[in-house]
Amino acid sequence: MDITVLSVFENRCLVNGTWLSTSQSLEVKNPLDNSVITEVPVLSEDVIHQVIIDAQIAQKKWKDVAPNDRSRILRQWFDLVMQKQDELATIMTVEQGKPLKEAKGEIAYAASYIEWFSEEAKRGYGDIIPAQANSEILVFKEAIGVCAAITPWNFPAAMITRKVAPALAAGCSIIVKPASETPLTALAIAKLAEQAGIPAGVFNVVTGSSTAIGRIFTESPIIKKLSFTGSTEIGAKLMAQSASTVKKLSLELGGNAPVIVFNSANLDLAVQGVMDTKFRNAGQTCVCANRIYVQSGIYDTFVEKLKTKVEELKVGNGLNENTDIGPLINRKAILKVEEHIADALSKGAVLVTGKPQNLDGNWCTPTLVKDVTQNMLCAKEETFGPFAPIFKFENEQDAIAMSNDTEFGLASYVFTQEINQFIRVSRALEYGMVGVNTGLISNAAAPFGGVKSSGIGREGSKYGMDEYLEIKYVCLGNIN
Ligand code: SIN
Repeated sequence: MDITVLSVFENRCLVNGTWLSTSQSLEVKNPLDNSVITEVPVLSEDVIHQVIIDAQIAQKKWKDVAPNDRSRILRQWFDLVMQKQDELATIMTVEQGKPLKEAKGEIAYAASYIEWFSEEAKRGYGDIIPAQANSEILVFKEAIGVCAAITPWNFPAAMITRKVAPALAAGCSIIVKPASETPLTALAIAKLAEQAGIPAGVFNVVTGSSTAIGRIFTESPIIKKLSFTGSTEIGAKLMAQSASTVKKLSLELGGNAPVIVFNSANLDLAVQGVMDTKFRNAGQTCVCANRIYVQSGIYDTFVEKLKTKVEELKVGNGLNENTDIGPLINRKAILKVEEHIADALSKGAVLVTGKPQNLDGNWCTPTLVKDVTQNMLCAKEETFGPFAPIFKFENEQDAIAMSNDTEFGLASYVFTQEINQFIRVSRALEYGMVGVNTGLISNAAAPFGGVKSSGIGREGSKYGMDEYLEIKYVCLGNIN
C-alpha cells in the first residue's frame, strides 16, 4: 500500500505554520517487512529553539481568542479527523502495524479527545470564595503558556490529541515530538489541524533526535509544561532534566496491570475482558493485562475457555480485514516477549498454547502459559506483547497482595459479581484506574493516569484540562 498518495500524507514538519524539510532525514519503516515508507526531517537544535520562541509569540494571541472561538476551531478539527478516518487509519497501520479495524478505532478515540476538549474550552471556570465582609477572594484559571509533548509509537494519534486538545482548549500553544517510529500519523493530524484554522505557531510537530529535542524541551525556560507518555526510565530522566526550570509535568509511564478473576465472576465476560485488555494492539498498551490472577475454583475452566479464544486470533498484515494481531513494532519487542516466556517455562510454568520462539521478522504468536508465579520475570516487568501468563490464587487477600506487589500503578482489572467484593478490592488496589467486569477502560470523559512509578497527572475528562491551566488568586480588598 503506497500511503504517500493519500490526501493527508505529509512527511515535513509543521513549524510556526510552515512545512519544513531538511537535507538530513530519518527513515520511517513498515514493521510488516521493515521496508522504508518515507523519510522525515532531522531538525537542527537552532530550529527547535526558534519553534519554541515562535510558539511563545503565537500563544500570547491564542490565549486571547474567545473560548467560544477556540472551541469552534477544535470542533472543526474533530470533524476533519473523522472525515479522514480511513486515510489516517491506513497511515497508522502501515507505520505502526496494528490492524486496520483497531487503527480506525484509535482515530475515533483520538478524535473523541478533540471533541471532548472543544466543549471543555468553554468551561474554564474560576471561583469566588467568600472570606471576610470587606473582601472577596477571586480564583482565575489561566493558560499555563507554551507546552511540549513527547508521545509514544503504540498510539500514534490518541496520545497526541489527548495532550494537544486540552492544551489548545486552555489557550496554550504546544510543540509535539512524536515517536520516531510513527511520525506520519502525527503529521497527518497536524495537517488537518492547520486546515481547521489553528493559527501558525499554536500547534507544531517536530521530528529528529529524541535525546536532543527532549533536552531542549526540558531545559527551556519558555516551556512551562511537558507532557510525556512512555517508559518510566525515560519519564524519570525527563523529570530530572526539568528540575532546573521547575516545569509542570504530566507523565504517563509504564504499567504492570493485574487482572483478578474471582470464583464469582461471569466467566464468559471475564474471558472476553481478558482478551480485550491483553490482546489490544497486540499487547502493546500501557494498560494491557500483564498478569492474570485466577481463583482456584474456576482456574481450569477459565484456562480452557481462554485457550479457545487465543487460538482463534489471526496474526497477519494489519491491512487484511480479518487480522487480529499485526506485527510487533520491531524485533526487540519480539525478543522481550520470548525472554518472558522462556523465563516462565524454565521456572515451572506450563505452555497452554502458542509458541515460545518466533523466528521470522516482527511476527509473534499469541501465547498462553499457566501456573505462573511471582518470582518469574513477567510478574515484575511489562511484557508489551501478546503473551498471557496465568497465576492461580486461593483467596482475596492473596490476590490483592500479589497485584500490589509491583512498583507500577496504572491500570488494574477485577472480575466479580459480588458487590461488596468489587468495592473492597477496588479500594485496596494501588492503581490509578480499576476496570470492573470490563477490559476496556479508556474514554475521553475519564481521568486516565497512574500512581507510584506509573506517573503523575491525569489525561482526559475535566481533570485533563487542569493540567494546562494555572490558578491565580486575586484578593479584592476594602470593598465597603
Ligand atoms: C497507553 O497505552 O499508553 C494508552 C492506552 C489507552 O489510552 O487506552
